[in-house]
Amino acid sequence: MTDLSRVLAGIEEQLSVPASLLKEIAERFQAAMTAGLAGKPSSLKMLPSYIGVPTGREQGTVVAVDFGGTNVRVLLITLTGDGQVHISNRRSFLLKDKRKNYDFTTASASGMQLFDFIAEKIAEIVPTTDKTYPLGHTFSFPCHQYDINEAELISWTKEIKTAGVEGQNVGQLLQAALERKKISYVYPQAIINDTTGTLLTAAYRDNATDIGAICGTGHNSCYLEPGHPLTNKPMIVNMESGNFSQIMQTKYDLCLDQDSEKPGAQRLEKQTSGQYLGEIVRIIVSSLVADGHMAGEPANTLHLPYSVRTEDLSTILADHTAGLEAVAEVVAACWNLGNLTLGELAALQTIARLVAIRSARLVAATWAGVLYRIDLELSRSHTIAVDGSLYEKMPGYAEYLAQAMNDIWGIGAKKVTIRLSKDGSGIGAAIAAATVYNSQ
Ligand code: BGC
Repeated sequence: MTDLSRVLAGIEEQLSVPASLLKEIAERFQAAMTAGLAGKPSSLKMLPSYIGVPTGREQGTVVAVDFGGTNVRVLLITLTGDGQVHISNRRSFLLKDKRKNYDFTTASASGMQLFDFIAEKIAEIVPTTDKTYPLGHTFSFPCHQYDINEAELISWTKEIKTAGVEGQNVGQLLQAALERKKISYVYPQAIINDTTGTLLTAAYRDNATDIGAICGTGHNSCYLEPGHPLTNKPMIVNMESGNFSQIMQTKYDLCLDQDSEKPGAQRLEKQTSGQYLGEIVRIIVSSLVADGHMAGEPANTLHLPYSVRTEDLSTILADHTAGLEAVAEVVAACWNLGNLTLGELAALQTIARLVAIRSARLVAATWAGVLYRIDLELSRSHTIAVDGSLYEKMPGYAEYLAQAMNDIWGIGAKKVTIRLSKDGSGIGAAIAAATVYNSQ
């Protein structure tokens, strides 16, 4: 065994999540759910959403605002009342754009500037006729929810730092911006988490859906609690599972955590989401170079945090060429590493794969934890609705999730369908707003 392959075997061992560990994590997750729901200490926030699943008969033309962290999307959506959805207009706007010289995600930007920007974009999309439109707002951060249209941001995640939003009522911030911009023809009706939107969108057509998740820049899941303690009725609970803490951390995870915006927080998210996977790979590769297991040119830029993105990992994983040309291009472009051997490029691809597999297996274990709670025997079918770039675009990711479910349930895994809920977070906001509007 060469030195590099020996070190690689060690990394593989640290990142692996065998079947027995999957089940253990699922059990710990289930226990954390129970504690969180009962208001006992838990890393799961178990936030009520004040909405159940839709009937499929909701209808109307609704404005949806989908604020995720990387961009804000505004959509004009018509729900037909028979499970169908038509998007008549949609646009996406970056929250930071170097060329246009703005960044609403830093601490020097204020909440007022951010929400004014969102209000302006709503005005660009929604026709100013005599008509008025209900608005549904997906806000993809942990919020204390007091009603379907009242949400207070607990704390930013995904490295966002905009000032003056934490602790504030997000609905009021948007309403105030709409008033400042004299947009009186849209009226906010609902605020939801993106996981809730994903669940609602899939459930609009498929009533076996009881888990919704985002595997994208951030990670989180929600589920339908059959009898919520607050109402004794079915209610979607935003678990904020990205903060789940009962998982192992390698030295690489600890290093990422220490230098993150909020050390100690969002442990699961830091091992599973697109915001961080590239950074884990960078930290591992830097340590290999620093310890002399891989050649690094003196002018390399491996020390720059977040210098490889999740899209780059997808490119690395999709490379099946004999010479690993795409892997070579990525490392040359991101880290100025131009002369790695084929063996070193292959090692890099293996590291990216191991990090992606660990992400998928940890996520699957948390879903198993939910199923342990709501249907331990898997006595009925369940659909898990997922949106996000990792699930949709990362080569192998969906298969890794399915494999982990098989490892946990064996043949029983057939009862569980994991399905893409494309644009679920935006469409779900429209369904939530229509639910409120139709019930008035
Ligand atoms: C947020 C969640 C969100 C997830 C996916 C996390 O960082 O805390 O509220 O659902 O990202 O966007």
